[in-house]
Amino acid sequence: MTDTNIESILHENRSFPPPQDFAAKARITPAELAALATEAQRDNVGFWTRLAREELSWHTKFKQALDDSQAPNYRWFADGILNASYNCLDVHLAANGDKPAIIFEGEPGDSHTLTYRQLTVEVCRFANALKAQGIEPGDRVVIYMPMVPEAIIAMQACARIGATHSVVFGGFSANSLRDRINDASARMVITADGGWRGGKSVELKAAVDAALADSGRSVEKVIVFKRTGEPVAMREGRDLWWSDAVKGQRDRCEPAWVGAEHPLFLLYTSGSTGKPKGIQHSTAGYLLSTKLSSQWVFDLRDDDVFWCTADIGWVTGHSYVCYGPLAAGATIVMYEGAPMYPDGGRFWKICEKLGVTIFYTAPTALRALMKLGNELPAKYDLSKLRLLGSVGEPINPEAWIWYHTVIGKQRCPIVDTWWQTETGAIMASPIPGVTATKPGSCTNPIPGIDMAIVDDEGHVISNPDQGGWLVVRKPWPGMLRTIWGDNARYLSNYWARFGNRYYVAGDTAHQDQDGYFWCLGRADDVLKVSGHRLGTMEIESAFVAHPHVAETAVVSRLHEIKGESIFAFVVCRGTRPTGADADRLAAELREFVGKELGAIAKPDDIRFADNLPKTRSGKIMRRLLRAIARDEEITEDISTLENPAIVEQLRGRT
Ligand code: WTA
Repeated sequence: MTDTNIESILHENRSFPPPQDFAAKARITPAELAALATEAQRDNVGFWTRLAREELSWHTKFKQALDDSQAPNYRWFADGILNASYNCLDVHLAANGDKPAIIFEGEPGDSHTLTYRQLTVEVCRFANALKAQGIEPGDRVVIYMPMVPEAIIAMQACARIGATHSVVFGGFSANSLRDRINDASARMVITADGGWRGGKSVELKAAVDAALADSGRSVEKVIVFKRTGEPVAMREGRDLWWSDAVKGQRDRCEPAWVGAEHPLFLLYTSGSTGKPKGIQHSTAGYLLSTKLSSQWVFDLRDDDVFWCTADIGWVTGHSYVCYGPLAAGATIVMYEGAPMYPDGGRFWKICEKLGVTIFYTAPTALRALMKLGNELPAKYDLSKLRLLGSVGEPINPEAWIWYHTVIGKQRCPIVDTWWQTETGAIMASPIPGVTATKPGSCTNPIPGIDMAIVDDEGHVISNPDQGGWLVVRKPWPGMLRTIWGDNARYLSNYWARFGNRYYVAGDTAHQDQDGYFWCLGRADDVLKVSGHRLGTMEIESAFVAHPHVAETAVVSRLHEIKGESIFAFVVCRGTRPTGADADRLAAELREFVGKELGAIAKPDDIRFADNLPKTRSGKIMRRLLRAIARDEEITEDISTLENPAIVEQLRGRT
């Protein structure tokens, strides 16, 4: 986040009370919210215990609520036994079996609906297929799928048999997929021939083949769902079609009853150092946090049609497409393709067609759609919408106001939800019938969550508008349990800074005079490009894998639509390329990095230099590079640089 953004939200003081007719029907009233907050404050563990008993269906009830004997490796409800898929599906069958669970819209325009009963049958059949292929509780299964219902079926089927899934975003490259498969030692990959995106087919199976070519000793089977019908290579003995795998499988499958702490999934995400880390989530605590937040924040009612536009490859797709809303018995919309296909009205067209009532998306999408003007949304009937949400990065007030007026017609509250892959579920958000919103603020922590902003010494900052570290002071059920295979990194990344007292989110934030939280962005070297999390280290390693590159430093600059975009300073082996040579190499490197990591990691700017600015101890001066990339004034002392003239070159002036 830059100073300019901090400025813009510091000066934002508009406030929007909840619309009266929304508040009148809301699931949570001011009195109820106050009661929840008081209860949580009085006895935080007791609060979660009550809710875990009421909201989850247990095979064996838990006696122990929070186990902090190994803190900060907290455990919740650990002696309880349950199944996540049972809690998302079977519990609804008696009263709501015929209610739509998933309304699917394919990019080419095909569409179908699965009721809770039909979804349960599909999940059971696929779960039986997984068992038939030898998958057992605790095995890791990688899912690399387009946004089709089978992706959810695959996740739920893993949960049903106690296998731990690890979904890899379909936009990641074969190399990224390979690293994740290897780190998780996955026994199986579930994929598709491809998926539709922007009118083109994204070849997923080919990427799986490439990923498994030079690794993948752990992978025994690949199940391939046929979506696009394009020809793919099938390796004898390893690959089988989804349709063949489920053939003859029974449509009932007794859930595997697992302990509350059983790892439901791993999801790889970027940190500031090293390779992406496998964030490990639990079964009961995760499910409780996602279910409750779905109900509280999205005000879910029986007749709602809830559309979270996130891909299942990201945590938002896990928590608010696959698990939270289904645990809450909601009807969800799932859309396969690009927001701009065939034009920028597609989202609004789907809202009209499927009667979407709650719409949850990312600021980057809003900015892109806002840029197209107001005519496209005006063409569609958006009158069913009653609640709007935002997630993934700070929403700039301009986009917020556009969302509020042009999409929500000033009628729909906006819930700006702050959370992370690691937190599992929404941590801070307005409660839509109660909280007055301010554009750009995620307002307050939801009940049970104890968030604070502290200075470098760990003291709570009471001065409004003074920024600091965003921390969580009490464990919560949905929190990550560890980093897969690397608990030391879990401890050092999230806990060590303040002596294990607080969970350190890695964001900076401030609280205003009303106590509202304003998240200012990452405090570390994690970038948010179009809301997607990328580590500078990963991108730098991808660059230096190219034979011409000696060294590189990656920073972000501000981007009108993506929020942040990647800016790389590159030092080549041999002489620095200039003119047409530089353009050619830059284009080649852009493709190269895209191939290494996936298209989302393609740098927007590449600038060649003779060397990089470093401190005496050899550390790259990233802040200086960031200022240069953003054309900001340089405030650091550059006199200690070995070669101060390099600054002019880095600025692209020599
Ligand atoms: C950022 C996405 C401001 C933040 C769910 C966090 C936000 C990172 C918001 C996590 C928000 C997420 N306002 N910033 N409402 N939501 N962030 O793991 O920097 O992909 O640390 O999880 O996104 O990104 P992740």
